[in-house]
Amino acid sequence: MSSVSLRNRTIWITGASTGIGKSLAEALIARGNRVIVTSRREESLLSLKSLAPDRVDIVAADVSKPDSVLSMRSELDKLTNSIDTVILNAGTCEYLDTNQFDSALFDRVIQVNFVGLARCIEASIHLLQNSALSPHIVGISSAAAITGLPRAEAYGASKAAVESCLESLALDLDAQGVDVSIVYPGFVDTPLTRKNDFPMPFLMSSDQAVIEMIKGIEARKFRIAFPKRLIWSLKLMAMLPDKLRHRLGLSMVRDNA
Ligand SMILES: NC(=O)c1ccc[n+]([C@@H]2O[C@H](COP(=O)([O-])OP(=O)(O)OC[C@H]3O[C@@H](n4cnc5c(N)ncnc54)[C@H](OP(=O)(O)O)[C@@H]3O)[C@@H](O)[C@H]2O)c1
Repeated sequence: MSSVSLRNRTIWITGASTGIGKSLAEALIARGNRVIVTSRREESLLSLKSLAPDRVDIVAADVSKPDSVLSMRSELDKLTNSIDTVILNAGTCEYLDTNQFDSALFDRVIQVNFVGLARCIEASIHLLQNSALSPHIVGISSAAAITGLPRAEAYGASKAAVESCLESLALDLDAQGVDVSIVYPGFVDTPLTRKNDFPMPFLMSSDQAVIEMIKGIEARKFRIAFPKRLIWSLKLMAMLPDKLRHRLGLSMVRDNA
């Protein structure tokens, strides 16, 4: 895939109110793009609008709720005939406590991270197909999709589902000229990870993550994974014989899990 600049495009980004999505939206606005921002809390998107009121539109929605996504879709249709880049970043993380196995947790996480992503593709695919500027779908998976990690039964599975879905979609949209990329962030300092009570190796700032993402998105890399040291450690772990991989994984299990 050849390189396509992330300037002067119409870009829709979900989960833009905090963390990675907010930093990415700020960078994309600064680069002169028209940016449509989505998350549940409209008030937390107002600061992005104030950066460039004529180039930023707010479409608030809960991607886990079909009715909310339906009205989001009509809002998008009212705003524009085409979108050049869709960045599917809205996400949540809940870790499982196996002493109180809770399948409702799986439902909450999957509804946002995976089904929510699919709903957003459904809501925007016709707009991407109208783009004359090499349309691109970018979905945020996670380094947690690389191999099974303790307490990530739901979160890791939701992000592995994102990965698998986008691998298939890249094949099925190829003939239509829609590119697909998958992003695998390691630990990024955001409200989502500030809740974590375990060590986060190679933690990076959301601004550093955005630099990696913009570089990868412009290069149209299929997999955008960072930071490299964490990604390679997890890939090596995934390649180990099962007994060794299991033993290494056990060393990460908390005493009270
Ligand atoms: N931070 C990391 O280390 C890390 C690592 C790997 C992958 N990721 C992924 O990167 C993405 C961004 O994470 P982050 O760390 O920046 O988290 P964050 O700061 O908590 O941001 C999550 C964003 O998603 C929105 N959101 C959550 N639930 C939503 C829903 N039901 N409908 C619409 N929007 C919703 C939130 O806004 P509202 O609350 O206003 O809806 C917020 O804008 C997520 O997909 C996450 O899984 C993060």
